[in-house]
Amino acid sequence: MPHKKLKRVDIIFSEDCVYKDVLFDILKRSNENILKEMLDSGLKGRGGAGFPTGLKWKFASQESEKEKYVVCNADEGEPGTFKDREILTRVPLKVFGGMAICAKVIGAKQGYIYLRGEYQFLKADLEKALVDFHTELKEIEFDFTIHIVMGAGAYICGEESALFESMEGKRGEPRNKPPFPTISGFRNKPTVINNVETLVYAFMICRIGSGKFHDLGTKDSRGSKVFSISGDTPVAGIYELELGMSVEDFVEDFGDDDTKAVQVGGASGFCVPRKKFKETIIGFEGVPTGGSMKLFNSTRSMYNVLKNYIEFFEEESCGQCTPCRIGCQQLKLGIEAVKNGDKPSSYLQTLQKLADTMKVTAKCGLGQSVANSYSSIVNNFKEEIIY
Ligand SMILES: Cc1cc2nc3c(=O)[nH]c(=O)nc-3n(C[C@H](O)[C@H](O)[C@H](O)COP(=O)(O)O)c2cc1C
Ligand code: SF4
Repeated sequence: MPHKKLKRVDIIFSEDCVYKDVLFDILKRSNENILKEMLDSGLKGRGGAGFPTGLKWKFASQESEKEKYVVCNADEGEPGTFKDREILTRVPLKVFGGMAICAKVIGAKQGYIYLRGEYQFLKADLEKALVDFHTELKEIEFDFTIHIVMGAGAYICGEESALFESMEGKRGEPRNKPPFPTISGFRNKPTVINNVETLVYAFMICRIGSGKFHDLGTKDSRGSKVFSISGDTPVAGIYELELGMSVEDFVEDFGDDDTKAVQVGGASGFCVPRKKFKETIIGFEGVPTGGSMKLFNSTRSMYNVLKNYIEFFEEESCGQCTPCRIGCQQLKLGIEAVKNGDKPSSYLQTLQKLADTMKVTAKCGLGQSVANSYSSIVNNFKEEIIY
């Protein structure tokens, strides 16, 4: 498959604009004009699922309810992801700006940032920045207020409907879908929920024009994205890169000459082994990612990696549905039994059937995505899993 060369980009963290002037100019534009810009850009959500942002905003704008909400998902719980923390630290005004633009388009007066419990240390600075931001909005009589709500350290509360439950003071458990949040979200009112990075891209697309964003990336993966790079790499950190590069090119820049696998998309993502580096594209047409890129070299046991991920899911499962609650436990016990020699290696196929069943029967993305790391690690590193 043809792929893009690795290219570094500077959109998210660029300091080239006076936010206030830019935001005021954008807020003067018509809703139709902003929506068209968003749709033309091809921006897809950066929180993982990749839903087109312009469409999400359009659906919420079409709802006739008076009470609507904009929610910024800053729960950032996927293992290996730490880019939203950096965005909120360095360019919070762009996040607020993206929320205000969305509020204008859909007709919301209240916005919420759901901040990961472990990011408590960011709260004071964000609140300070919000005071100035609200004062500025008053200058143009734009009625929009952003509040911060703290999470309490549960991965499942990053799932949008569990997040709304948590914001409403209830136990954070995913709801049945449909209805989707644009119809019934926070307090059962039409809500746009976007990832931190998505909101900054929305702001920047309105600033630089949809064309500049659309020209980057590929047909299915327009633009660039912020990656959190960690593991066996000499240059761990946060990088904004054009979408559509191959894993091979990625490893050439970020690997340590001994990379044997890259876990793309965290525990809920896919493990790409060396033999597939060349053919695998980083983007929605290949391996999608919310931003987590973890490199493993030959010193790592892929059995330990898989066990660690399954234990994580077992711990973080909300327990609401049986396939996930019991499935995670059984997958963990199963691979332990194979590793210890208590079960034959063929038992891995039985476990694969269980993982496949979870994919189609679990209620939310947590249980549905356990099969991603199970299949991609077991199929590519079977010799490390068996006795
Ligand atoms: C278990 C689970 C955890 C999630 N955690 C996050 C998260 O921490 N941050 C995030 O933006 N999206 C997370 N999501 C995705 C959200 O449900 C939702 O799709 C996203 O916030 C939408 O924003 P976007 O369209 O800008 O990507 C999670 C989904 C699942 C199933
Ligand atoms: S899949 Fe897991 S996390 Fe999701 S609702 Fe079911 S038990 Fe809860």
